[in-house]
Amino acid sequence: MIGDKMRLDKFLSESTELSRKDIRALIRKEAVTVNGETVVKPELKVSELDLVTVHGKAVSYRKFVYLILNKPSGYVSATEDRKYPTVTELVPEKYRHYNVFCAGRLDIDTEGLLILTNDGDLVHDIISPKKNVYKRYYAELDRPLDESDKTAFAEGMQFKEFTAKPARLEICEDRTGAYVEIAEGKFHQVKRMFERVGKTVTYLKRVSIGGLELPTDLPLGGMIEIAYDDLTDKIYNERRLS
Ligand code: URA
Repeated sequence: MIGDKMRLDKFLSESTELSRKDIRALIRKEAVTVNGETVVKPELKVSELDLVTVHGKAVSYRKFVYLILNKPSGYVSATEDRKYPTVTELVPEKYRHYNVFCAGRLDIDTEGLLILTNDGDLVHDIISPKKNVYKRYYAELDRPLDESDKTAFAEGMQFKEFTAKPARLEICEDRTGAYVEIAEGKFHQVKRMFERVGKTVTYLKRVSIGGLELPTDLPLGGMIEIAYDDLTDKIYNERRLS
């Protein structure tokens, strides 16, 4: 809650790249102030309502961080795995202390847009099918698609453990590439939907979540920070395939 007090060293380590050791050293050098007073103890209690400065620069408290990854194939969407590298291994050093996790999952061989954050509420909003946030994928198939596949996707599909809502399919000119939009994000959903119409996905990439698009200049394995307001504005302001 706003105004809740915490130790100054916690406040600074959560809001900056500084380690607790760095913070103690800065305090010893009299480089840290709270509301204009030089601090002498790292355990001083502060809140986001206090004016905290380091070397004269104000530090605002930040609890959550939002990162966008262009996931490469070969990484699992998890924080730990015994066998494969995980997407959290791609988190730049300066964000490591936020202990981010994935908002949704992509298969190990799927590339593209993945959000990592430590904000559990946002994760729930993105994942919940009730929120109707469509995820858009580019897929390549082993054989050409036709108009009947479009109809099959548009009718929705019944699977053993869930019913896929109507999905939009946009077939590319070569007919073996397509964009597909789904509301859910069930295990292997896109691959299973194509399998249902007799095609095998040979390449899959997520290109957007709601109106949030994978930045075209973000290389595979690259991760960038996005502000909360920017992220949520984009996610909930989507353009849909017609
Ligand atoms: N559907 C799939 O089949 N795989 C993914 O990684 C995402 C959606």
